[in-house]
Amino acid sequence: MAKRARVAILISGRGSNMAALLYAAKRQGCPYKVVLVASNDPDARGLAVAAAENIPTFSHSHKGMEREEFDALIHDALREADADYVVLAGYMRILSSGFVEKWEGRMLNIHPSLLPKYKGLDTYQRAIDAGDTVSGCSVHLVTPTLDDGPVLGQTEVAILADDTPEKLATRIRIAEHQLYVRVLEDLVSRELDPDWLVGKVNQLALELPQTHAKTSHGSPGWRVGTEKSGKFFAYVSVHHHGEDAVALLVKTSGTDEQAALIEAEPDIYYRPAYYGASGWIAVRLDTGAVDWDHIASWLRKSWSFVAPKKLQPLVEFLGD
Ligand code: GRF
Repeated sequence: MAKRARVAILISGRGSNMAALLYAAKRQGCPYKVVLVASNDPDARGLAVAAAENIPTFSHSHKGMEREEFDALIHDALREADADYVVLAGYMRILSSGFVEKWEGRMLNIHPSLLPKYKGLDTYQRAIDAGDTVSGCSVHLVTPTLDDGPVLGQTEVAILADDTPEKLATRIRIAEHQLYVRVLEDLVSRELDPDWLVGKVNQLALELPQTHAKTSHGSPGWRVGTEKSGKFFAYVSVHHHGEDAVALLVKTSGTDEQAALIEAEPDIYYRPAYYGASGWIAVRLDTGAVDWDHIASWLRKSWSFVAPKKLQPLVEFLGD
């Protein structure tokens, strides 16, 4: 079976979304597994639910701690569990921006409104008071601003004439449980989809100066220079030359660096067929948890090896 993404769930209370995600993960073929449930409240009811399902739990009260200090504790627990993704499910803590940055693109939240409407608390009452006929829930990526990141999915829930906040909340929660599972499955699956991986590399490669995409022997590639005489600085190999991997091919300083990288991190690097002889390296993209900053820095480095001298100053300001 394909590798399953490792998901940690943060809760503060009941944990019904956590339970929905946990039970969904029992389905054979579910693309994620829950590796940790953590809480800022040692009495959170969801912790017992997770423990009864043999999921490792971690809890520590945030009381009396600085926000950064507490978030560092949670971050350590996430690292220890080797989590690829963090899912907030009723986690009632404002997160420090340092913590959010560390999990950028890999941390989700669920919110009981149709964002951007009704950020913050009392969403049900506010929707009813406004006379809305529909409310619902949203799953979004977490950014430093509260309830503000890109929305990945929403479900509308009709408001009834005699709705109270409690009644509406109960129905929205049913929708939440289904939406959260679906969005999480989609998010973790796309990182194993070759087309999505190529698109992501394309976006990063074209951010570099004077670059364009060009197919080479059937593989997607990127060149620096003019359309006429540009030189390749990156390719993506999708099961090419009989390899089972999807990988980024970039130039190193030579075969010494190439060998050192493969020895140090054999799970990430390998010597690609054909290009390997001239010091190119393959960086695996099919691990399910690619560090895209790392990929961006490889693209920059490879660009620098290949780009004409007169273009070099253009990337110096980008750093490594
Ligand atoms: C949910 O309504 C969710 O939208 C909000 O907090 C609540 C958590 O409920 N962020 P539960 O703990 O998952 O039951």
